[in-house]
Amino acid sequence: MHGAVIASLSPSTSSSSSSLYPALIPFSGCISLTRQCKTHKVTRRRRAASITAQIELKPPPYSLNSLEPHMSSQTLEYHWGRHHKNHVEGLNRQIVGTELDAVSLEDIITVSYNRGNPLPAFNNASQIWNHDFFWNSMKPDGGGHPSGVLLELIERDFGSYESMLKEFKHAALNQFGSGWVWLAYKANKLDVGNAVNPFPSEKDNKLVVAKTPNAINPLVWDYSPILAIDLWEHAYCLDHENRREEYISIFMEKLVSWDVVSSRLEIAMERAAERAREKDTKEENEHTQGDDEGEEMYLDSENEDSEAE
Ligand SMILES: [Fe+2]
Repeated sequence: MHGAVIASLSPSTSSSSSSLYPALIPFSGCISLTRQCKTHKVTRRRRAASITAQIELKPPPYSLNSLEPHMSSQTLEYHWGRHHKNHVEGLNRQIVGTELDAVSLEDIITVSYNRGNPLPAFNNASQIWNHDFFWNSMKPDGGGHPSGVLLELIERDFGSYESMLKEFKHAALNQFGSGWVWLAYKANKLDVGNAVNPFPSEKDNKLVVAKTPNAINPLVWDYSPILAIDLWEHAYCLDHENRREEYISIFMEKLVSWDVVSSRLEIAMERAAERAREKDTKEENEHTQGDDEGEEMYLDSENEDSEAE
């Protein structure tokens, strides 16, 4: 099914794909905000009647002014109300009438990643998922310190919370250009179906800090992300201008919802444990099947011997 989806969306085979490329061009920073707003309104009126795909623009789980003073309502209105919304409208235009219209957002991401040669739908799909994840990574009166199993794993895998914080901040500060930094639970040793695993096998079942450029997220490596920071300039330029380091510090110290991060880790570990059980069951069944086949061969041989006698 995936092969069919890829074939139908390939730039070389889709007759309509060339018209989709403009929707993939991201807005850049805060330049000409007024002009971009006017352009967006005109575009929405012209195309709204023909779009029937149903990827939704989900609101953040708090009011747009409730992260103040650490993240302004102006930033939320601009970032969620324009950038995130544009990705939703762009993806719905791209997938309407295609096989991707009937699958989950996660499946659109993994299929359209296309082994590192993204298909037209990838950037919008991934940015929608990334932003939903980002909004839910924050809460009013957030920040502070993680606790429980999350803290235990952070201390196990990074040495201390402070060491993880230092590595996360360093990665975020040094991500060249636009992109994201993630704290993720990595529970697979091997390359997955459509991407090369970026970490060595000894980091299996561990928390890792990972940088991704543009719209890419750890789902393409089959990792389980538990925290993300948006490093596109539009995420912080209204509140911090070009002071990315200031934005990163405030995000980690005043905005992160460690409760949500802990819940995501719990789900990730349950998922990994379930996969391990499925793998064990599969290997056990294969082993049993192999024994049965061996026994049949023995019986067949015995029968042949009997017939020969
Ligand atoms: Fe963003």
